[in-house]
Amino acid sequence: MITSLIMAGGKGERFWPKSRTNLPKQFLNISGNKSMIQQAVARLERLMQIEQIFIVTNELYAELISAQIPHLPIENLIIEPSGRNTAPSIALSSLYIEERYPDSTIIVLPSDHIIKNEGEFVDILKTASEVAESGENIVTLGITPTYPETGYGYIESANEISTLNNLEVHRVRRFVEKPDSITAESYVTSGNYYWNSGMFIWKSSTILECFKKFMPAIYEIMMEIQHKIKAGAAQEAIHLDFAKMPEESIDYGIMEKADNIFVIPCKFGWDDVGSWTALDRINERDDFGNVIKGNILNIDTKRCIIESNNGKLVATLGIEDLIVVDTDDVTLICSKEKAQEMKLLLKELRVQK
Ligand code: GDD
Ligand code: MG
Repeated sequence: MITSLIMAGGKGERFWPKSRTNLPKQFLNISGNKSMIQQAVARLERLMQIEQIFIVTNELYAELISAQIPHLPIENLIIEPSGRNTAPSIALSSLYIEERYPDSTIIVLPSDHIIKNEGEFVDILKTASEVAESGENIVTLGITPTYPETGYGYIESANEISTLNNLEVHRVRRFVEKPDSITAESYVTSGNYYWNSGMFIWKSSTILECFKKFMPAIYEIMMEIQHKIKAGAAQEAIHLDFAKMPEESIDYGIMEKADNIFVIPCKFGWDDVGSWTALDRINERDDFGNVIKGNILNIDTKRCIIESNNGKLVATLGIEDLIVVDTDDVTLICSKEKAQEMKLLLKELRVQK
């Protein structure tokens, strides 16, 4: 049996002011006519029934998920009382999935990515599941890096390669989460590294064993929660025990330490839509390199990203390389160079409040 878990509790702050605390990136319609989480669910439904798809999120976003994915069975929505990063999310969710579908192979996915070739993506997931089922294996999907991004994990191939269903499966030498820019640069030029796409495929027994080995503090709490779930006290377990889990991402907590990792190099057109400048890669540009959405009048405007979200006219004259986003209560004007640093504005806003 294959199941899946979509992680949907992130804040997606670099898409401010379109993304807000109560409306993070995964719930926005950034490309196409569905939100990113709706697209994530639709992609998985090519491979499995909605009953096999679980979503884990913060209680802040539970209503949004029910509104955007009304056919998701309510028992498939796993709600965390607080955000503790992805390791605790995956730990809690694995217990829930194991209770419903014992011994399943779990495909863990982010809620906020774009994938162009969905057919190829689904085929790769099938092969990845086969690799995961053939041992105590962690399978990752790797993307050929094109620049030294420091916000990603890097996967080094051990050059021990087998082929399955016409796809290469590489044993992984090591996994490095978010290296500094000099290190990232050396990885990109070496040609032996892939970006981690943030998707993981493993048997539930494999990930349980990894928690036991590499994150024992989480494993101990998992055992307490499992006991309570079986005794019918799931709510109490979530509220009291989940909050005790150490805050850590799965990438630092397990991926950097495990040695049973495989990577399948993928070419299905992946983008994690990390910040406003991602729209340059994803959406169509006009003859002057602008990406435009909404009611816009622009003259002598080059390589800008301009969006009006409220019907109001946004007019530009003689500007270059800027991001201009107009919403009901906020207008953002930002140089493309600084798009990664949106957190500076948000931090200042919080100080002022
Ligand atoms: N439920 C829940 N709870 N979900 C969370 C939480 C949480 O506390 N924190 C993050 N998520 C969700 C996000 O919504 C996103 O879908 C996914 O988990 C990954 O979290 P990010 O915060 O976006 O991770 P990242 O972008 O810094 O890094 C990860 O993704 C990169 C590719 O996009 C890592 O896996 C990197 O190695 C990878 O390269
Ligand atoms: Mg991310």
